[in-house]
Amino acid sequence: MELNDQAAITSGSDFWASTAAGDVPAITLTDGPHGVRLRVPDSEDLLAGQPATCFPPAVASGSTWDPDLLRRMGEALAEECRAMGVQVLLGPGINLKRTPLGGRNFEYFSEDPLVAGVLGAAWVRGLQSGGVGASLKHFAVNSQETDRMRVSADVDERSLRELYLRAFQRVVTTAQPWTVMCSYNRVNGVYASQNRWLLTEVLRDEWGFEGLVVSDWGAVVDRVEAVRAGLDLTMPGPDPTGDRALVEAVGDGRLPADALARSADRVRSLVAKTTAVGRTDGYDADRHHALAREIAARGIVLLKNEGDLLPLDPGGTIAVVGELARTPRYQGGGSSQMTPTRLDDALTAIAESAPGRVRFTADPAEAVELAQGSDAAVVFAGTEQETEGSDRESLDLPADQRKLIAAVAAANPRTVVVLANGGVVLTTPWDRDVGALLEGWLLGQAGGSAVADVLFGRVNPSGRLTETIPLRLEDHPSYLDFPGEAGHVRYGEGIHVGYRGFDARRQEVAYPFGFGLSYTTFSYGEATATATETGVDIRLRVTNTGPRDGREVVQAYVSLPSSRVRRAPRELKAFAGVEIRAGETAEVVLHADRSDLAYWDVVLQRWVVEDGTYTIEVGASSRDIRATTAVEVAGDEARHPLSADSTLAEWLADPRGAELLMEVFTRMPTEGGGMAAGMTLDPATLQMAMGFPLSRMAMFPGSPFTADALAGLVVAANK
Ligand code: BGC
Repeated sequence: MELNDQAAITSGSDFWASTAAGDVPAITLTDGPHGVRLRVPDSEDLLAGQPATCFPPAVASGSTWDPDLLRRMGEALAEECRAMGVQVLLGPGINLKRTPLGGRNFEYFSEDPLVAGVLGAAWVRGLQSGGVGASLKHFAVNSQETDRMRVSADVDERSLRELYLRAFQRVVTTAQPWTVMCSYNRVNGVYASQNRWLLTEVLRDEWGFEGLVVSDWGAVVDRVEAVRAGLDLTMPGPDPTGDRALVEAVGDGRLPADALARSADRVRSLVAKTTAVGRTDGYDADRHHALAREIAARGIVLLKNEGDLLPLDPGGTIAVVGELARTPRYQGGGSSQMTPTRLDDALTAIAESAPGRVRFTADPAEAVELAQGSDAAVVFAGTEQETEGSDRESLDLPADQRKLIAAVAAANPRTVVVLANGGVVLTTPWDRDVGALLEGWLLGQAGGSAVADVLFGRVNPSGRLTETIPLRLEDHPSYLDFPGEAGHVRYGEGIHVGYRGFDARRQEVAYPFGFGLSYTTFSYGEATATATETGVDIRLRVTNTGPRDGREVVQAYVSLPSSRVRRAPRELKAFAGVEIRAGETAEVVLHADRSDLAYWDVVLQRWVVEDGTYTIEVGASSRDIRATTAVEVAGDEARHPLSADSTLAEWLADPRGAELLMEVFTRMPTEGGGMAAGMTLDPATLQMAMGFPLSRMAMFPGSPFTADALAGLVVAANK
């Protein structure tokens, strides 16, 4: 392909299409992730979309903890893409919910990288099995909207590897998305779009990514630098100035010709892959609506259910309060906002479930009277619209809604609150006064029916929190380091993201990570754990001890008390959803992957599984551990080399180093003072010397070794 064409196809031809050149046709890339938002042709409104199924956004689909559902959602999305002529769907979004104030948290799965990675990979597999490309976004560390186009997310290496990049690594290595979308922000000072370390060294060289890197829309600052770093396709377009800059840079040798040729090739391969399947005539909108309803019902989290208030008795009278029952909030704002094929509201679905027994108001003055005169009251409450582009300012429900909840709950203790929100809201103290609380997130176009399914027990709730609900915003690990200033946000909590931080500080929370109730109950047997070559297998029996069939999400948390590095008290390393009929027992097997036991070693610059006795806690949430066991794991060879700058303590902790040093020390005379004498005879002096690098010790009068001798010791120690 000619140089000019190579440059041209590495940028878009308009907002949503790549550029055709030579024998390479253009393809359409569009949002994503919870539905196909294909632009209405000739519309002046760039965000207006043609109708398509609005599945539950990730905040709700993630709460299912069910990769199988996410795969089915991906498959259905592929069918819609093919019917609409879309080759790449821009999702999934798998950034960590670092702060509950994140304006786009509704588009992301979790504060935990295992949940985000497993669910993201399932979604990608489903979509791509239909011949449509995914775009894993936003790579990387795009966990806030404030100053998102410029801010530098300043993250230490372990947190970056173990938390922020971990979900991306899982999706890339297990599902090979056809594209990865780089984020707008800078990562440790360098724009993601021109970050060679991120886009080439980590993504391709280490993880083996084979696809194409596309920019977030408008993320490229400098086309030449971007291509040099490993970015292939700049969107949107056209960008004749950038095309020219690329041609010139290749011409005068500033950009290696093969860098541009490689990117052009990747565009060509993506086009070939995504056009291998043809366009279809349509899709079954009813079936997709039913799937959207199934996922929505499964994503609802039952947070409280005093005295088994739920499920509701369809024979009783029900007061429904709040405009959100009639006018649902079912998705967030911004690039993912789409036009649904239809829209279910909860009021209609409730009225159909309890014919003739439902009365509705939205009028706070009437609500109390209505609640008093009914067997139960259901209040619909929620946040204002969350949207891409800005973070939230508070976690509180609007004051008038809190007042309404309090008034209705005072009038009728059998009050249920149903929440609609894209990011967590504080539930304390008002949840004390209500009988039941359903976290309904943003549930997509079938959410209204899904809420009724759960309220009346047609679906037994099994959704689980993928993020912690704190008691106060100020308790959150990210609180002091968000949203940053002067172009930088310091990820000061390090590896202690979300529940890891709450647990490390033993802080009370309103509802912990992993929590969610059911209309039945489960009991856990003893757990056993066996180490294998591929990781740890954990086995236990779980019994449904209640009156209804149900689904339990069994979670395995791992820790290593003897770790050489700081670790969180517990980290989710495996989970499994199991359907168990009333009264029956299931054998549950969870597999924690060996690679997930590793920490990132900053000295060795690689993952290391440590030797040791790992604690395995199995539970129904991060704060409801039902069985504990331990397992010996044989670690990787991971010796840190000793140097002259290693401390006395480091030398003594190393078997070879200790042996060599002890030889030196025992040769030193102890009479007549001197350092060796002090260290061998006086424990306090030895203690003080422990932090000394040997190179510095060598400079002291009376040192047991000279600098030259030390050089010899270093060679001997590392042989
Ligand atoms: C968003 C992406 C989206 C793209 C295209 C950007 O503003 O960050 O998530 O895919 O626009 O709409």
